[in-house]
Amino acid sequence: MTQETILIVGASGTVGSLIAKKLRESGAIVKESTSRKDVATSSSQKVFMNLATGENIHEAFSGIDKAFLISPPGYADQYAILSPMIQEAKRRGLKKVVLMTAMGANAVDSSPFRRAEIELEKSGLAYNIIRPNWFFQNFNTFWVHGIKQSDIIALPAKEAKTSFIDAEDIANVAAKLLTVSTFDNQDFDLTGPQALTHGEVADAISKVTGRKISYENILPETLAKTLLGAGLPKDYVDFMILIFGFLAEGYNSKITESVKLITGLAPRNVNQYTQGAKAHVAK
Ligand SMILES: NC(=O)c1ccc[n+]([C@@H]2O[C@H](COP(=O)([O-])OP(=O)(O)OC[C@H]3O[C@@H](n4cnc5c(N)ncnc54)[C@H](OP(=O)(O)O)[C@@H]3O)[C@@H](O)[C@H]2O)c1
Repeated sequence: MTQETILIVGASGTVGSLIAKKLRESGAIVKESTSRKDVATSSSQKVFMNLATGENIHEAFSGIDKAFLISPPGYADQYAILSPMIQEAKRRGLKKVVLMTAMGANAVDSSPFRRAEIELEKSGLAYNIIRPNWFFQNFNTFWVHGIKQSDIIALPAKEAKTSFIDAEDIANVAAKLLTVSTFDNQDFDLTGPQALTHGEVADAISKVTGRKISYENILPETLAKTLLGAGLPKDYVDFMILIFGFLAEGYNSKITESVKLITGLAPRNVNQYTQGAKAHVAK
């Protein structure tokens, strides 16, 4: 069997890095995209592509068979980021494209994420769309500062339950979809095995750290102020506040069987996540 070359967009990120590792282990040739020119020149396995400017998209897709696409966080118009890559994949007639958006992205056809999904669905290419729920990993990345500094997770999530998913499971799903055709042209909402409040995740983190980590419900405006203060663009902050609104109303609580269906493995639960993330949330 000839080895396939698979382009991973966001390959240094939470999900992309895990997919790249799994695909290499399975024998595929992996091309990792990066927006950092210095990083791209450091290894023949890496390729420069800047999705914010559209620079080098054509070259990055040269010689590949399949691609995994994401829109990096920070950009509210995900369609503008993803569409040039979908068009390039179509021009080159790739064997398969797996696109990761987010659970809820298909609620309205006019949303930027959904427009990209529709473009891929209509491309004529073999595809999968995966829509993960909120990641467990947010607690050891985006929210880790509050956990380490003050033992607090302060978010406008109310007491709503969310079926958080582990990035490891998302990567297992994506790697599988990139290597088999059994599920071609289907879309999947990906969730963890149970729906939990942010307070319940805080309790699970407390257990592994031996510190009392508390969840505090805050106003959306308070989070917006923090995110703007951290330098995030206003339109992306508005997007974050919008999706936190859906979360707080309970729209992210459903549980799906997709991870088990595709990988054959049950999705990781909160205790498996916190055991693995222990070192990241320690002081
Ligand atoms: N976090 C959640 O709870 C959640 C839930 C559902 C869906 N999602 C979706 O997941 C996606 C993010 O995935 P992730 O968390 O795995 O990503 P991540 O860890 O934030 O990594 C983002 C990647 O994008 C690359 N990147 C940044 N700017 C770029 C640019 N201008 N051009 C090209 N590449 C660029 C970065 O690599 P370089 O610096 O090397 O370029 C990095 O590898 C988003 O689309 C988000 O909507 C997230």
